[in-house]
Amino acid sequence: MSTRTLKSLMLVAQKGGVGKTAIATMLAHYLALLRGKRVLVINLDHQKNLVRPLSQSGKVTMASITSDKLLTDPKADVEVAPYVLVPGDKDALESLERQPDKHNAFAGNFRSFLRRMEGKFDVVVVDTNPNPDIRVLAAMVSIDYVLAPIQLNQESIDGIADLFNGKRVGIGRIRATLNKELKFLGMLPNLVKPVPFQRVNLEKLLAVPEYRAQLMGMKDNPTEIKDLARIPDRTVIAQIQASGQVLWEVKNHTAAREAWAEIKPVMDRIAQLMGVE
Ligand SMILES: Nc1ncnc2c1ncn2[C@@H]1O[C@H](COP(=O)(O)OP(=O)(O)OP(=O)(O)O)[C@@H](O)[C@H]1O
Ligand SMILES: [Mg+2]
Repeated sequence: MSTRTLKSLMLVAQKGGVGKTAIATMLAHYLALLRGKRVLVINLDHQKNLVRPLSQSGKVTMASITSDKLLTDPKADVEVAPYVLVPGDKDALESLERQPDKHNAFAGNFRSFLRRMEGKFDVVVVDTNPNPDIRVLAAMVSIDYVLAPIQLNQESIDGIADLFNGKRVGIGRIRATLNKELKFLGMLPNLVKPVPFQRVNLEKLLAVPEYRAQLMGMKDNPTEIKDLARIPDRTVIAQIQASGQVLWEVKNHTAAREAWAEIKPVMDRIAQLMGVE
């Protein structure tokens, strides 16, 4: 019987700007601060979008190594603390793709790093870059769970086939070959607005059985729109992402309270699907 208790999750998308980083930030805060889990956040993106809000929040311990080392150094280690962030170094991360002869080793190193974190952390959250390069591949062959934020526009929906069947990091392909344990938590509509075209797009997704099965439900086997997980478009989310505040800690702000009331059930559901106790 497996004694593994560490759960790891990565956020992926076919397209930039769909909210991977905003959701990674809120989920990491939720797991660490509200659920009391030991959380390790890994930023594999070379943009600073994740590091800024987490470090500004004053809640995380910054690791002394950068995330490229988790791929290049077979002995990479991080400090043990309740809530740790491994930041990304732009040049070092971007250079990884240019070393194809080492890509197998990079993926192996990342995988064994995650294994070594067993017992030190309860949950690992990995935020990735939007382009399907070795960073995304190394994470996807190593990780337990994948969550894919989408936007309900045509471009995003056209990209869904690639999300599953894309040559290099299609979730279906990886699951069939390199990581048979990979579990897909689903597509999570983000930036959802009550406008007709978004509703039509969601209905279109629900109507295609292969897509419906891949939408994250608030309960198992969702059949109706009301059963689907979604995160609304709320200005306050962009604001806290920019200021480093924690959504449910924002005081005297009705919009923050209302947004959190809508988002918390989605965070609860993600934790439940990951088997976080
Ligand atoms: N639900 C939301 N409501 C309002 N703003 C949001 C929401 N989700 C994300 N945003 C904002 O939208 C912008 C893009 O989000 P984010 O940076 O999380 O996307 P991303 O998928 O990580 O992008 P990239 O591909 O560049 O890494 C950010 O300014 C973020 O604060
Ligand atoms: Mg991002």
